[in-house]
Amino acid sequence: MPAGPQTFDLVIAANRLPVDRVVDPDGTVSWRTSPGGLVTAMESVMRGRDGAWVGWAGEPGDPPEPFHEDGMFLQPVGLSAHEVREYYEGFSNDTLWPIYHDVIVPAKFHRAWWNCYRSVNRRFAEAVAEVAAPGATVWVHDYQLQLVPAMVRELRPDVRIGWFNHIPFPPVELFAQLPWRRALVEGLLGADFLGFQRTSDAENFLRSCRRLLGMTTKADTVTFRPGGVGAGGEERHVRASAIPISVDFKGLEELSRTPEVQARAREIRESLGNPSTLMLGVDRLDYTKGIRHRLKAIEELLQDGAIAPPDTVFVQVATPSRERVDAYRRLRTEVEGTVGRINGEYSPIGASAVHYLHHSYPRAEMAALFRAADVMLVTPLRDGMNLVAKEYVTCRSDLGGALVLSEFTGAWHELKQAYVCNPHDIEGLKQTIMAAIQTPAAEKRRRMKALRRRVSDHDVQRWAARYLDALAAAPKKPERSPR
Ligand code: ADP
Ligand code: F6P
Repeated sequence: MPAGPQTFDLVIAANRLPVDRVVDPDGTVSWRTSPGGLVTAMESVMRGRDGAWVGWAGEPGDPPEPFHEDGMFLQPVGLSAHEVREYYEGFSNDTLWPIYHDVIVPAKFHRAWWNCYRSVNRRFAEAVAEVAAPGATVWVHDYQLQLVPAMVRELRPDVRIGWFNHIPFPPVELFAQLPWRRALVEGLLGADFLGFQRTSDAENFLRSCRRLLGMTTKADTVTFRPGGVGAGGEERHVRASAIPISVDFKGLEELSRTPEVQARAREIRESLGNPSTLMLGVDRLDYTKGIRHRLKAIEELLQDGAIAPPDTVFVQVATPSRERVDAYRRLRTEVEGTVGRINGEYSPIGASAVHYLHHSYPRAEMAALFRAADVMLVTPLRDGMNLVAKEYVTCRSDLGGALVLSEFTGAWHELKQAYVCNPHDIEGLKQTIMAAIQTPAAEKRRRMKALRRRVSDHDVQRWAARYLDALAAAPKKPERSPR
């Protein structure tokens, strides 16, 4: 379909486009898959749907020209260096991210960051209004764009608007700390339907509507009058409900079964000295992921003599993330220091106890790593879903491997046959890791089979269909025509 104003029946808006524009020091321009679970999931949902994706191309400066990719129309939104600092690194990732993840690190509040967040959200809403066809479905994603639903409604009352939160929604006691809490709730309530990962996230949102804005809720629906009682606005009803996200089971499983991926999995094991147990961690380098707790448990297991290289090795893949935000800088220094200390203490010549890889890899390499790993360690302190857990079981069509999974992930609510851990309880975590290593193969296969059934029955295509059906059935129908 040709690009043009008001053309697309399905428009999604997310902070990032599915690809980042990268300029190498010699000036060569290339496009790379953007980091994070949102892109992994939405890229497979949008492929071939003839929709538009509005998002940032990952570098400061003027936006590149819109372009087509994989059957999608990509509409870049430009962010200046100042906006990257204040809207993305600041308000999104140094204010909202800690509040929405149990304040694992303190949140910073700056009025200038908020003002910038508002103006960037306005720019996203304008870009959406520009490309959405009359009566289109607009699907807004994640915490970076919470004001966009109301802003789009103002510009384009004819469209149907959904929002999905890929991360947790905080308890009212934490959300209430935000000086801009009312504006955030009102921004979200511009949508017709709000989707969350867990029922408790949807409940947290509804509780905030009641306690902080005095609104009425019944079951999963909030009823309110925009502008307040007496403002003359028409009463609106917005549903807030859990629809947990998933992975492209079929596509990823197929990839993991290819001879190339299987050969690469064998090669990875060989290059690590064919250990009897290969443990793996795969995360963005983020303090929510529990990497420090995981390393602590591994260090103590080495100290106790429960595990030792080259028989047992641990590979930690840590994708670079938000590298200019202080909390992320400190985390990197600490993780890299700990890995160095562990290896210095416990690795003999030629057999590291911990292999640390600070890179992004192609999907086939990730599938090979999953296929190679005997024990997958997913130990976040808080995580909306954690797609890595679902990807791991998807890749284990051989029914090998064992998943250690934190109870503080969204994935835990679905993957109950995993080896469940509380990452704050280091002693418990050590015992769970050892159980995952030592359980007889037949029991591990039984667990893996059940885990795989869950993910294959609830894949990302089913998630998208459920979400879009719920949005289409949401109470309030668009009535007025576009401005
Ligand atoms: P988040 O969205 O917080 O980053 P998820 O676990 O939900 O966490 O999603 C992470 C996504 O990024 C997964 O699809 C995972 O396979 C992918 N990923 C993680 N690390 C890497 C890496 N080093 N290289 C390529 N992809 C990665
Ligand atoms: O949902 C988690 C998330 O924040 C997504 O919004 C984002 O795509 C991903 O993690 C990666 O983070 P960032 O876009 O800040 O690199």
